[in-house]
Amino acid sequence: MKIIIRPDYESLSRTAADLVQAVVAVNPKATLLLATGNTPVGLYRELAKHHARGEFDASQTTIVQLDAYLELAPDDERSLYGWLDREFLAPQGIPPSNVIRLPGDTADPEDTCREFDRALAQAGGVDLSVLGLGPNGHLGFNEPPCAADAPTRIVALTPESIVSNARYWGRADRVPTRAITAGMSDLLAARATLLLVSGAHKREILSETIHGPITGHVPASYLQNAANVTVLADRDALPSAS
Ligand code: F6R
Repeated sequence: MKIIIRPDYESLSRTAADLVQAVVAVNPKATLLLATGNTPVGLYRELAKHHARGEFDASQTTIVQLDAYLELAPDDERSLYGWLDREFLAPQGIPPSNVIRLPGDTADPEDTCREFDRALAQAGGVDLSVLGLGPNGHLGFNEPPCAADAPTRIVALTPESIVSNARYWGRADRVPTRAITAGMSDLLAARATLLLVSGAHKREILSETIHGPITGHVPASYLQNAANVTVLADRDALPSAS
């Protein structure tokens, strides 16, 4: 696990953009699994600037959706696909046909999970996974406790995740309680991972992630054993022991 520290969120986002751009420069057809949530927004906005300057072209990449609320249509602005579209796909001009999706409004969630796994396998797996760190150590919606080999599946959100997502829904009791998530096994199989962590509220869980025991109670701690993981954190998120 490589740890890169940046003084603040803005410089974290610029460094993340340079790292993603370098991967796509070497492999324009890279498969990129991309988180939503607040943390990567700065990265996506940086990449939009790179794209506008003609320095970043993701038109040949395959994008993989990380997770989705169940029973929420992808065109709902609160859906995680809607978020990804606004922040990354649309600014980059990437069509939906380049995206391996998790439609939350599927009539057959089990089949959707298997179809997602099939499409991901057909794409040859993930070249770079860009992840945020949940307040309870979740990656995607791989909520604790979670096995390292957990597949793509339907999950119930933990109370902690519901409270943390309430800011996007106005009230905790409006947050959907179930989601589909790419499996922990898919995340751990990625050929490279960039974990973005910003803010003092992530300090404790980041410390457990990088220094604590490897346990399903902190799913992100599995990254200690994964290949080619870079943790990119700002100083506020930094555990004092690092
Ligand atoms: C988002 C996702 C979540 C977030 C995590 C951190 O697609 O899967 O795991 O990455 O909850 O969220 P933020 O970045 O908002 O703190």
